[in-house]
Amino acid sequence: MATSTKTLTGPRPLAARVRALRPSATLAVGARAKELKAAGVDVLSFAAGEPDFDTPEPIKEAAKKAIAEGMTKYAPVPGDNDSRSAIAEKLTAENRIPGVTPEHVVVSTGGKQSLFNLFMALLDPAGDGSEARRVILPVPAWVSYAPQAQLAGGEVHEVVTTPETAFKMTPEQLDEALSPDSRVLVLNSPSNPCGTMYSPDEIRALGAVIERVTTGPAPRCPHLVVVTDEIYEKLVFDGQEHFSIGSIPSISERVLTVNGLSKAYAMTGWRVGYFAGSGDFGVEVAKATAKLQSQSTTAIPTFILPTLRVAFEQCQDFVEHLRSTFEQRAEVMYNGLTAIDGLVCPRPTGAMYAFPDVSAHFGKSSPKGTRIDSALAFSQALLDEHHVALVPGEDFGTGGEKCCRLTYACATEQIEKGIERLREFVDSLR
Ligand SMILES: Cc1ncc(COP(=O)(O)O)c(C=O)c1O
Repeated sequence: MATSTKTLTGPRPLAARVRALRPSATLAVGARAKELKAAGVDVLSFAAGEPDFDTPEPIKEAAKKAIAEGMTKYAPVPGDNDSRSAIAEKLTAENRIPGVTPEHVVVSTGGKQSLFNLFMALLDPAGDGSEARRVILPVPAWVSYAPQAQLAGGEVHEVVTTPETAFKMTPEQLDEALSPDSRVLVLNSPSNPCGTMYSPDEIRALGAVIERVTTGPAPRCPHLVVVTDEIYEKLVFDGQEHFSIGSIPSISERVLTVNGLSKAYAMTGWRVGYFAGSGDFGVEVAKATAKLQSQSTTAIPTFILPTLRVAFEQCQDFVEHLRSTFEQRAEVMYNGLTAIDGLVCPRPTGAMYAFPDVSAHFGKSSPKGTRIDSALAFSQALLDEHHVALVPGEDFGTGGEKCCRLTYACATEQIEKGIERLREFVDSLR
């Protein structure tokens, strides 16, 4: 039988969902930094998104012991009972989230997979079921929220924040962004890339808006749920308290809390993350995401599951050491950055980043002739001319294009040296 070989052979276009994914603007800077390093140039990098500490010994020992004891077969998809219990106990005791049981918890391959699972479980593509597809995203925000939400069919609605409010969304901004088709509000406190966090009262004020629009006889946003990414909860400074929005009883059943071991326990390469909700809806979402995960990655490696309880129960001294070290470095970086002409940077209060607005220098040129008209151009010229690598903010959403992200997950001496080079670069712009 004759077939139309024309349509069946030859290269075929890739799926629309990957064609629509934007390539990262920051990759160019990372690739150039690698090139310079390979050529023997002394590049100071402030681009990493991971602690420069080794994983605590008790965690390594727990994984080794688990391997020795034969924990090398498939585990239940959402995690075994002990790891899910450890998480439920932690969220109850520490984060004061009411009604979390092991049934509400799903362990995944990093917080990143937890978030992806949640967007996939909560959002429908246009015309494919529920019309509540709006994802409210305060920006600048971590690079993966928007692409993940869009892959799942969501429609991202940015709420633009500025250095003047330490990049925090006000209750008024939230209220204005909410509509009947709002499905997910993404919160991330402390924030990557902004390096700032909401106070307990600020979270309560956002919670009051959520309560108002979701309750009563004819609520404005009946479908709204909050996905709160608390992966930096332990890295908080100046004696501030991290407050989980899931602890507000009137809205806790609408809150899905994401966390993981990557940052607080220096375990980025282990890939351990989780989410938990509460109440009936929390169980429903846990079951849905476990079903999704059962068709993609299955459980995380079985011998890594015991590290969750060990981290929570035996590694709090490590966490405090990490936190206080980062607090000192944040101060050095903040003082250095704000002493540089034209850089506007809110005081870092959490996570491990400073996020200065460098736009006062847009319109100038570097000594080698690069016109500085964006954070990307600023970063490229800084790297080429003064060998400092940082992350231009273009990928973090609206407002990010004026800013650059610097991490202080490196030694204080490197911060001091890097700040000095940055100052020389800024002073050289005309
Ligand atoms: C804000 C935020 N959320 C989630 C993640 C994902 O972390 P992981 O997948 O390692 O748990 C990161 C990692 O950089 C992050 O910065």
